Amino acid sequence: MTRKILVTSALPYANGAIHLGHLVEYIQTDIWVRFQKMQAKEKVSECWYVCADDTHGTPIMLRAQNDGITPEALIDRVHGEHARDFAGFHVAFDNFYTTHSVETRECANDIYARLKSAGLIERRSIEQYYDPVKQMFLPDRFIKGECPKCGAKDQYGDNCESCGAAYTPNELKDPYSAVSGAKPVLRASDHYFFMLSDARCQSFLRRWTREPGRLQAEAANKMQEWLGFNDDGTTDNKLTDWDISRDAPYFGFEIPDAPGKYFYVWLDAPIGYMGSFRNLCDRQGIDFDAYWKPDSPTELYHFIGKDILYFHALFWPAELEHAGYRTPTGIFAHGFLTVNGAKMSKSRGTFITAESYLQQGLNPEWLRYYYAAKLNGTMEDIDLNLDDFAARVNSDLVGKYVNIASRCAGFISKKFKGQLSDVGASPEAAWLMPLRDAAETIARAYEERDYSRALREIMALADAANVVVNERKPWELAKTEGENEQARNALHQICSQALEAFRLLTLYLKPVLPKVAEAVETFLGIAPLAWSDAATPLPAGHIINAYSHLMTRIDPKQIAALVEANQESLSPVPEAAPRVAPAKPEKVVPVPTQVSEPDGAFVNIDDFMKVDLRIARIIEAGPVEGADKLIRLVLDIGEEKPRQVFAGIKSAYDPASLIGRMTVMVANLAPRKMKFGMSEGMVLAASLDDNNSGQKASGIFLLSPDDGALPGMRVK
Ligand code: 2FM
Ligand code: ZN
Repeated sequence: MTRKILVTSALPYANGAIHLGHLVEYIQTDIWVRFQKMQAKEKVSECWYVCADDTHGTPIMLRAQNDGITPEALIDRVHGEHARDFAGFHVAFDNFYTTHSVETRECANDIYARLKSAGLIERRSIEQYYDPVKQMFLPDRFIKGECPKCGAKDQYGDNCESCGAAYTPNELKDPYSAVSGAKPVLRASDHYFFMLSDARCQSFLRRWTREPGRLQAEAANKMQEWLGFNDDGTTDNKLTDWDISRDAPYFGFEIPDAPGKYFYVWLDAPIGYMGSFRNLCDRQGIDFDAYWKPDSPTELYHFIGKDILYFHALFWPAELEHAGYRTPTGIFAHGFLTVNGAKMSKSRGTFITAESYLQQGLNPEWLRYYYAAKLNGTMEDIDLNLDDFAARVNSDLVGKYVNIASRCAGFISKKFKGQLSDVGASPEAAWLMPLRDAAETIARAYEERDYSRALREIMALADAANVVVNERKPWELAKTEGENEQARNALHQICSQALEAFRLLTLYLKPVLPKVAEAVETFLGIAPLAWSDAATPLPAGHIINAYSHLMTRIDPKQIAALVEANQESLSPVPEAAPRVAPAKPEKVVPVPTQVSEPDGAFVNIDDFMKVDLRIARIIEAGPVEGADKLIRLVLDIGEEKPRQVFAGIKSAYDPASLIGRMTVMVANLAPRKMKFGMSEGMVLAASLDDNNSGQKASGIFLLSPDDGALPGMRVK
């Protein structure tokens, strides 16, 4: 029976940029999908790769409010950025959609209705913290206070970053809203629960999580713990019901029979996999039901990070099972990315966005190769060591792989009019046999997601090919081929064989290096390589095209520039000028934040008064050519001539949305000549000091005065 496969990667939130951490998963999945698509149609007749932006929830709603745009405008903009970044790294989704879609809404309503009629939805009243100023219930991450265990200040409502304790928000001491700074109050509200504690869910999950192939060994063990399996064979009921609703105001889907109640973002996110696929099916005439009906013979795989295993290995299969759909064939979790052995960090310049990597002119296939060399199908974390990255790519891809073609192609073109000799059965060509025979073992490694094993095999074969070329020395043969027929034959043979080896290596590397493979297909004058082509060598007399360089080496200077560029993005304003920290920054920043205390000694009031802070009206705002992080602002501060300021706030603001807005500027900062013109001051904005991704909202927050302030008023 031929395989039909549906593959997903986790849906990225629509309020942040794609960074190198995200790319581990998309590259991992894309390699797997590309490998499947290279299989013969009799083996894999269909393989679809879908994804979408995860567009709902409180952080996205607040981020849009903060930017002064609608959530729809925010998610549209981010969708464009995400699509651009994925394409830039050759991540080839069959559909990159959005959860804010008719299809996802219909699938969510349908699953909810089916769970309800199965008696697995319950409505009950719960007490939750409410922000009386912002007039909204606060998610745990938007409540801060003192850790009940260690007393650390400014900890989130769910766990302490200082001592690691987990707790509920009402255990926090002196809680405050991270949205408005107000003291939250407990308020009751009706919520909808998916009854995971129901005996049906328990027994289903106990069986499902232990079925072969569903989960990696480490994940299955974790599940046994979560499912309350004891060593003595007894079980405890550890699963608690899952709160799937949120109160207005919320950006999401309103629950059909519950006005003012919305599906929690994590309810509709995995359903977004279905929504995206439904959209693809409708456009391409694929049979949606064949993939989602119970006991479907098709395969469904979710690639995810280990942090969201709980949602994918418990909630999602239980929902699908009890709503009458098929469950995932397997969940493939990967570990986290560290850069130079540590968490990605803006201050170290290692919080690197996909966009900046590409803008610095780095080749996306370098990263694809490096990640592949590190990925082995387990949940272990992987490290991007930037020195090792350069060394490995240069040595493997340029030194071993590309080298084979670059040393031999020229002779074929110049001396043999581009025509290859027979690379078939002669004893001199016998060294190609192991290369050809490796197709199966390499395929197995890809299938098992052990790309590091696949690449080790491939590089060992490249080494072997280089040994043969070194032994037969085509450059020596070329010196005498004019007078010596034997040398001419030997030259023709070794170069043709080396190019056949190169064709095989390219085939094996194609899931990882799709663009290089395309260029090689053009150079060799062959059809797109499929896995079965390993068995069919290039025929005698085949004509190749002129060789042009396939890949450059990584210059360590490029890495240094990348790190520097990302370090720069730490500051919302490019000038290295003193920044005035607001007295109570957490009241200014409307999102959860770790605001650093001003370093070192206090300043006295005279020092402070030296900074001339003025209310400014933004009268013009526009992009700056050649500077992706900057916006050019023209500011009215009541002077005859408006000021021009370049502010590093482009990642957070659409310039058009800023025009007319009031803010605060430093008016007596020494003017600075920049590449783009004079910068005559600095606008004030709040931002985090470090990496703050995922559910935690992040960004840059321009200061605004209260209504009534006029351009030119002094701020003190
Ligand atoms: O953790 C995250 O980034 C989520 N946006 C992943 C959602 S995956 C799926 F469930 F939609
Ligand atoms: Zn603590």
